[in-house]
Amino acid sequence: MSVARHPSAAPAPHDTAIELLGVHQVYGSGDGAVHALRGIDLRVHPGEYVAVMGPSGSGKSTLMNILGCLDVPTHGVYRLGGTDVRLLGEDELSRVRNRDLGFVFQSFNLIQRMTALANVALPLAYAAVDARERTRIASAALERVGLGDRAQHTPVELSGGQQQRVAIARALVMEPTLILADEPTGNLDSRATQDVLDLLDSLADEHRTIVVITHEDDVAARAHRVVTLADGRIVADAPRPAGAPRPAGAPRPAGPSRPAGAPRPASAPRAEDAPLRRPTGQGTR
Ligand SMILES: Nc1ncnc2c1ncn2[C@@H]1O[C@H](COP(=O)(O)OP(=O)(O)O)[C@@H](O)[C@H]1O
Ligand SMILES: [Mg+2]
Repeated sequence: MSVARHPSAAPAPHDTAIELLGVHQVYGSGDGAVHALRGIDLRVHPGEYVAVMGPSGSGKSTLMNILGCLDVPTHGVYRLGGTDVRLLGEDELSRVRNRDLGFVFQSFNLIQRMTALANVALPLAYAAVDARERTRIASAALERVGLGDRAQHTPVELSGGQQQRVAIARALVMEPTLILADEPTGNLDSRATQDVLDLLDSLADEHRTIVVITHEDDVAARAHRVVTLADGRIVADAPRPAGAPRPAGAPRPAGPSRPAGAPRPASAPRAEDAPLRRPTGQGTR
C-alpha cells in the first residue's frame, strides 16, 4: 500500500541525521505575527559538522529550538534520525531530548551547586542509570574533555572555557545522535574559544553529527559545511570556505547532499515503526 496516510508517513533513509522539509515557524498571529522561519529545507548526514550562520534575528535560535525538539514547526516536517518528531508524544520527546540530543548553550547552563561530575552525570540520572555506572561514564566524559582532575569542582571554581567543556561532557554522556550547540563560544575569550573548537573538531573526527549556531567566522571556519540564514530563509549552503584550515586528520565531509524533497520510497515502513534509538537498544544502562 503506497498511499501515505500522512505526508510524513514515509521516513527518510537512515543515512539522514536531520531532515527539514518546508519548515515554517510563526510566532503570534494576525498583524503581530512574526515569521521567524520561511520554508527551510535542510538535510544533514550522520557525521557532518555544520555551522549555521546569519545575522541577529535571522532565525538561528528558532531553528535550534526545532532541531532540539524544544519547539514544533508551525508548518513542515522535521525528521530526526528518520523519525517525524510530530508523531512523538511529550514523554517520547523528553526521551529524545535526553538520549538522542546533546545540548551545548552559550551560557553553559550548569547547575551551580553541583560538582562538575554531578552535572555531567545528570542526563544519566534522568535515564535511570545506576549510581556506580553514572560515575564511571561521567568520569570518562570529563577525562574526554581534559577535565578529569576537576571532577569535584563546582562551576564557580572553573573558568568559562572549563565550564563549557563540562557542558560538552554532559552533552556526550548519552552518546547522542546529534550535538547541538547554540553560540557555544559566545561567552568565551579567544584562548578558551580555541579549546572548545578543538574539542568540537575532535568530536567531528569521531564522525559525530554536530550543528553549531554561531555568528563568528572563526567558529564557522572549523565546520565542514556552512548554512547561512537571512530573514528566515537559507540563503547559502556551502562546504567549508575555500582556504579555511582543515585540522590535521579531520575526515572529509560526508558525500554530497541529495536535493531536499527527493522522493521517498513509497514502501518504506511508517515512521512510528522506526523509533529513534541507539543501535545498542533501549532501556536503562
Ligand atoms: N518567542 C518568540 N515570540 C515572538 N517572536 C520571536 C520569538 N522568538 C523569536 N522571535 C522572533 O523571530 C525572529 C528570529 O529570532 P531568532 O530565531 O531568535 O533569531 P537569531 O537567533 O538568528 O537571532 C526574530 O524576529 C525574533 O524577534
Ligand atoms: Mg539566537
